[in-house]
Amino acid sequence: MLIKKPGDVLPSEITSEAVWHARREWMLRMGAGAAAVGVGGLSGRQAFAADGPTGEVLQATPNPQFSVMEKQTPFSDVTSYNNYYEFGLDKGDPAKYAGKLKTRPWTVSIEGEVGKPRTFDIDELLKLAPMEERIYRLRCVEGWSMVIPWVGYSLSALLKQVEPTGNAKFVEFVTAVQPDTMPGVRSGVLGWPYVEGLRLDEAMHPLTLLAFGVYGRVLPNQNGAPLRLMVPWKYGFKSAKSLVKIRLVSEQPKTAWIKAAAQEYGFYANVNPNVPHPRWSQATERRIGEDGLFTPKRKTLMFNGYGDQVASLYAGLDLKQNY
Ligand code: MTE
Repeated sequence: MLIKKPGDVLPSEITSEAVWHARREWMLRMGAGAAAVGVGGLSGRQAFAADGPTGEVLQATPNPQFSVMEKQTPFSDVTSYNNYYEFGLDKGDPAKYAGKLKTRPWTVSIEGEVGKPRTFDIDELLKLAPMEERIYRLRCVEGWSMVIPWVGYSLSALLKQVEPTGNAKFVEFVTAVQPDTMPGVRSGVLGWPYVEGLRLDEAMHPLTLLAFGVYGRVLPNQNGAPLRLMVPWKYGFKSAKSLVKIRLVSEQPKTAWIKAAAQEYGFYANVNPNVPHPRWSQATERRIGEDGLFTPKRKTLMFNGYGDQVASLYAGLDLKQNY
């Protein structure tokens, strides 16, 4: 896969991001006191209406405890440099073609090893738990990374609703296939639907986010509208976009990437600088948005820097074998 220079940033976009960063910093410094104001409060709507993100505002409370205080990747890069193979292989294809994705009506069914299987409408899911803003690193196995302000809540809030049984050991995530809107599903690069999986304890970890928005507004289609997974300590491919079904199961799910190339993509996919992918070293990364010819690469952090929170999930597990 090629790595391309993201498209030029319009001066107007830079302005709106500067406003965003200033407001963010202020709110995070104010901590819980400012939290009730929420994303989209204050001047949010006005700040973005003209030149930044244009989707519907999602009210959210900043969660500084689960946020990294690093420079955020410009909105223009977050939404124009994407992997969403249902819309093509090129990084620009999702932004070009995902506009046609039908995101209403939308339901997510939760089934399998659960006491209360249920189908949720997207509008129910938007109200199921309080929305938080969490600034997470996203590290792609291809060697690039971003820092993104997501809006959503812990996946555990949803899973608790359906009461997993004692046989539930893994969670399978199935994503949308819309042959009429997704040109990529006519190709055989992956088996469709795109399926991912987590161990139940990983899925229940508070960091595992069900994301509905970025930069204070609903997800742009190319980022996985209307809802996606965001698992910040794992390579980006685990964070499945446009979810339609969640199955709790007793056996490890067969993911789309494992079916396509098991020697390259493991089930765990924890970010690990010491275990190279056959085609890409994982020791360093290029932060999108700060790439000049002489910009040094960043050192990749174990578990993408989330080791304090998640390393205990893997105590005793050989992470070279279980890549
Ligand atoms: N989800 C679906 N349904 N289809 C995909 O092709 N690509 C994955 C993941 N989720 C993908 C997907 C990969 S490889 C990455 S790196 C991230 O989405 C990229 O998310 P982003 O485009 O929002 O940065």
